[in-house]
Amino acid sequence: MHEPLTYFSPAKLNLFLAITGRRSDGFHDLVSVVAKLKWGDTLTIAPAETDALECDDPAVPVDASNLVLKAAAVFREATGWRGAAKFVLQKRIPMGAGLGGGSSNGAIALRALNDLAGRPLDDAALVPLAAKLGSDCAAFLTAGPVVMRGRGERIEALPEASAARLSGRRVLVFKPSFGISTPWAYQQMAARAPDSYCPEEEAQLRLQRWIESDAAAEALLYNNMESVAFEKFIALPTMLEELRGECGLAPRMSGSGSACFAFLPEGADASAIAQRLKDGWGGEAVVIDSRLE
Ligand code: C5P
Repeated sequence: MHEPLTYFSPAKLNLFLAITGRRSDGFHDLVSVVAKLKWGDTLTIAPAETDALECDDPAVPVDASNLVLKAAAVFREATGWRGAAKFVLQKRIPMGAGLGGGSSNGAIALRALNDLAGRPLDDAALVPLAAKLGSDCAAFLTAGPVVMRGRGERIEALPEASAARLSGRRVLVFKPSFGISTPWAYQQMAARAPDSYCPEEEAQLRLQRWIESDAAAEALLYNNMESVAFEKFIALPTMLEELRGECGLAPRMSGSGSACFAFLPEGADASAIAQRLKDGWGGEAVVIDSRLE
């Protein structure tokens, strides 16, 4: 009998997210800097007769729509592997948050399957499989912060000196009780075209300027999906304004939301900020004091 193999499945933040336009396939092109958190889910895998997924959160679908089980189908198709796997997912990353929980689980499941099958594929060969699962998945197969381009599937490691300005930074992540649907947010972007988009040249220039500077992580923060989310979900800009004015933070939304985040100084007491978030958003708000990988 094999012992189950255990994997960490991190949450991500989009520190920089410029949606640059709509493509003919209906997806959007983007330029983004994605950093993984030291906080996330845990996924275990063990050989089984047929694929199965168990999850400790009853709100998570455990049928074929889950990216973990889709990963098994994609992996089998690509490699001809005849095995099957039982997955157990310990869920911490909330859904509809823009924290990439489902994408992370799918990408990590691919790595786990590859290990279970005796590594028929190298890491580079897993990337196109991850892209088949979802636009954000490939980012989880490269260590450290990455630049994401195309619809998200084109991944490049951030230059070392820039990555060093992000690595280990303390960050507070907070999400109200409601989530935001990613397809909805992209539809809203398309409905407000072209004003909602950041021209690609401008996005590249902004990012390049930060990479070539020695500016801190705070100077990188950008997200042009905030406007559509903030227009409908007033609780977001209201709270971010409060954190900016009264706590001196520089908060941003991650991805299509609804989770937001702010870098924290090392010695800062997060409990007062967490209290303020719970006062404003209610007790169901999620507040995580973590660090970038
Ligand atoms: O690829 P994923 O399943 O994560 O995308 C969810 C939805 O978000 C897509 O169906 C599409 O509507 C939208 N999307 C997009 N452009 C991207 C990524 C996602 O329009 N680059």
